[in-house]
Amino acid sequence: MKVRALFPALAEATVRLDGPAGSQTPQPVLDAITGYLTTRNANMGAVFSHSLATAEVVAQTRTKAARFLGASSPEEVVFGLNATSLNLTLSRWATQALRPGDEVIVTTLDHDSNIAPWTQAAEDLGLTVRTIGIGADTRLDLAALAAALSDRTRIVAFPYANNGIGTAVDVAAVVELAHRAGALAWADLTHWAPHAPAQVAALGVDVAICSAYKFFGPHVGLAYVRGGAAGRFEHGTLPFESLAGLSAALDYLDSVGWAAIAAHETQLGQRFLDGIPEGWRLHGVPAMSERTATFALSLPGHHPVSLAKALAAQGIAAGAGRFHSGSVFDAIGLPDGALRIGFLHYNTADEVDRVIGALKALSGGK
Ligand SMILES: Cc1ncc(COP(=O)(O)O)c(C=O)c1O
Repeated sequence: MKVRALFPALAEATVRLDGPAGSQTPQPVLDAITGYLTTRNANMGAVFSHSLATAEVVAQTRTKAARFLGASSPEEVVFGLNATSLNLTLSRWATQALRPGDEVIVTTLDHDSNIAPWTQAAEDLGLTVRTIGIGADTRLDLAALAAALSDRTRIVAFPYANNGIGTAVDVAAVVELAHRAGALAWADLTHWAPHAPAQVAALGVDVAICSAYKFFGPHVGLAYVRGGAAGRFEHGTLPFESLAGLSAALDYLDSVGWAAIAAHETQLGQRFLDGIPEGWRLHGVPAMSERTATFALSLPGHHPVSLAKALAAQGIAAGAGRFHSGSVFDAIGLPDGALRIGFLHYNTADEVDRVIGALKALSGGK
């Protein structure tokens, strides 16, 4: 892919396989941030050109974000600090009218940021939180979800995909079950966002939350709230320069296109799956059709952090640990978590081969 030249950080020798923790940023995004601060920096609400231009940045970014999310209207887009704080704010609103004994469902595949808001609300309001587990294949147990729903279920919180092991969730199936019970379908889109379209309205999701630093933008959060909510949940002055950067990141994604991203990531992911050396254990679904190109691996007898250090010493940036997704690592019997190798569309087949070679050396050369 020709996109790499757009990313100044990718000119460094380090192989960046830490995308699930945060992606790198293309030059147009960097330019948009500096451009905003250089030529339009002002607060909204005044009559001079800089202030009007700032209002235009916010409006344009909201429109583009609505398209990115698959929302029906820009008014359904909420900007915030990051995914976690948006989830806390929105969950407060969603639980306002709940009564003791009402139920919220979360899943073993959720990041803490889509669990803690609900356990906190449950403590405050006397709600019951139920957790839906996974099968031996790490797929979400949809039969258990169907069985757990009741006329007290108000919210079903779930991720589009898990950030620790890459396993994807059948969003349409979860939404269908949630709505059948009269509950809100509350999605964490964060891990999925750089990989494929969210299609929130088409899938029927009620709330979806993510963070632009995972999809080539700056550090700013965004959420979809079905039915419109923008002004209601945005408190104080927005991060205008980050919204300018987000706007450029969305243009960048448009210029590459989801089809090209999916095709390239599938190729990289399959190449990696085919090349995992003997001795290593892969956790998560072994088929690219039901996962992102984020792979959790373990090597018996080795701590994930020492494995990541060994890779770092060879110029390969990869994560290690539980990635705030402790429930899934507990469920698969890895209390210390795993080594996480994550590919984004800016990675290359050579980089896949390089990490496979490094893994081979660590497991003894097979
Ligand atoms: C799946 C998932 N959800 C939520 C978050 C939290 O995002 P933020 O850092 O924007 O709060 C992350 C961050 O890694 C994540 O991977």
